Amino acid sequence: MLMHHLTIQQISTAQPAIAQAPGLHVAIISDGNGRWATSRGLPRSAGHRAGAESARRVIQAAPRLGIHTLTLFALSSANWKRPAAEVNAILRLLHEYLFTETTHCIDEGVRLSLIGRRDRLPATLRQAIADSEAATAKGTRLHLRLAVDYSAREAIYHAACRFYKVTELSPESFSNVLAEVHRGGSTEVDLLIRTGGEQRLSDFLLWECAFAEFVFLQKRWPDFTAADLEAAVREFGQRERTRGALPDAIAG
Ligand code: FPP
Repeated sequence: MLMHHLTIQQISTAQPAIAQAPGLHVAIISDGNGRWATSRGLPRSAGHRAGAESARRVIQAAPRLGIHTLTLFALSSANWKRPAAEVNAILRLLHEYLFTETTHCIDEGVRLSLIGRRDRLPATLRQAIADSEAATAKGTRLHLRLAVDYSAREAIYHAACRFYKVTELSPESFSNVLAEVHRGGSTEVDLLIRTGGEQRLSDFLLWECAFAEFVFLQKRWPDFTAADLEAAVREFGQRERTRGALPDAIAG
């Protein structure tokens, strides 16, 4: 089945072609916070703060656009190479977000999960994550996955290690183990959006993006609005997704 003639309203009720959960899985590489700030003469941390506000807007808009799972790249494992002050500012924002938004998530039916490594995060943040995950576990309207200290390559490597000496392995069982490694589950990505002008995946959801549609935007993440998300979902709706098969028009 192809999604390309569906309207946004239809997407919310239709059975999607690929996502295992009903509705779309949209993943976002929220790039450009630093440039947004420096172009205004502000410290990079101000860009991340504005980026967190952007994330709030997008999370709020997602369910009405037929998005059931939203994965946001908040901190890559590669970001540890940045100055400690900048990484700490992002971690503080995350902690603040959990503190202010958990009740809101419960009210809005949002289930929050973290994917990525936790062992390098401050213990207080780890506890706040576990508390938010437990408090929001029953949310069914949107699954919000924040990727923090996340590396897709590392997750795949750890999943593969669990199969060491296993001779028979199905792609499904591998996906299941990858979901366990992530903890926040693993569904195929339908639409990957990257802001900030770069056109690369940067070690984000490598396995899950195998058949994803990509939308790259020049706009920097703090300038990204709910209308931009809606436009990207509309563009996705016009793409023909064949997963290697022939397009409908040719297949007959
Ligand atoms: C990329 O911009 C962005 C990040 C590395 C951090 C993203 C963090 C947030 C959106 C805030 C945390 C999220 C929540 C939900 C609390 P960049 O710094 O690489 O920008 P640049 O390419 O312009 O330098």
